[in-house]
Amino acid sequence: MLNTTRWPYPRIIAHRGGGTVAPENTLVALKVAASMGFGGVEFDVKLAKFGVPILMHDDTLDRTTDASGPVVDRDAAELRSLDAGIWFANEFAGEHVPTFEAAVTLCRSLGLWANVEIKPDDDNPEETGRIVAGMAARWWKDASPAPLLSSFSEAALAAARDAAPALPRALLVDEVPADWLERVKALGCRALHCRHDGITPELVAAVHEAGLGILAYTVNDPGLAYALFEMGVDAVVTDELRDIRPDFLTGHGR
Ligand code: G3P
Ligand code: MG
Repeated sequence: MLNTTRWPYPRIIAHRGGGTVAPENTLVALKVAASMGFGGVEFDVKLAKFGVPILMHDDTLDRTTDASGPVVDRDAAELRSLDAGIWFANEFAGEHVPTFEAAVTLCRSLGLWANVEIKPDDDNPEETGRIVAGMAARWWKDASPAPLLSSFSEAALAAARDAAPALPRALLVDEVPADWLERVKALGCRALHCRHDGITPELVAAVHEAGLGILAYTVNDPGLAYALFEMGVDAVVTDELRDIRPDFLTGHGR
């Protein structure tokens, strides 16, 4: 049974905004998720030149735009001139790399809750955590529920905690480390975000026993999503927006 004090957020979350339906980390992806009824989205934020946060997963532009090279070498205006949609499908040609500010504004206007994944380059975790958290706190002031900041980078999360202590945080892990609880507590996190195949009933019980939430990523099979919810997982992040829909849990009688 969901404890909404522990997890006051949507339980089915669209990965990188639009999953497999729209180009990742773009404004159109957020619009698609909202149009499909999603109440929550996950997206990745990193710093462009001059410390301006933008939506992007990779350190380089090569995979998801029509340009190449490090993201951090381009300013927001240059990024705006790139095409971040055509790599995905012709119908998305002309989609830009959005600033974090534009994404927040859109989320707020669409009523979308966000899990903001802080995605630093190797050499700027503190700066990225500090800037993203500070801006999130300002732009989501008074939002309820507040956005949830997550990161694989503990240095980024520590900087986020120091810059915006009131914003909730989650530690993202690939392999679950043996000392996950110490790490989560040291960072003042309220949730553990785990790769789905590292989740066991014992882990779910221990996370809940500690008063924390647990999210599984990236869950693209409905049967697996169901099994994870049966295990007690609070939320899943999915690419398959058509198969694991916002009403997935209602459909399964939960
Ligand atoms: O936040 C969950 C998930 O997005 C983490 O992995 O690489 O898709 O950002 P990645
Ligand atoms: Mg992510």
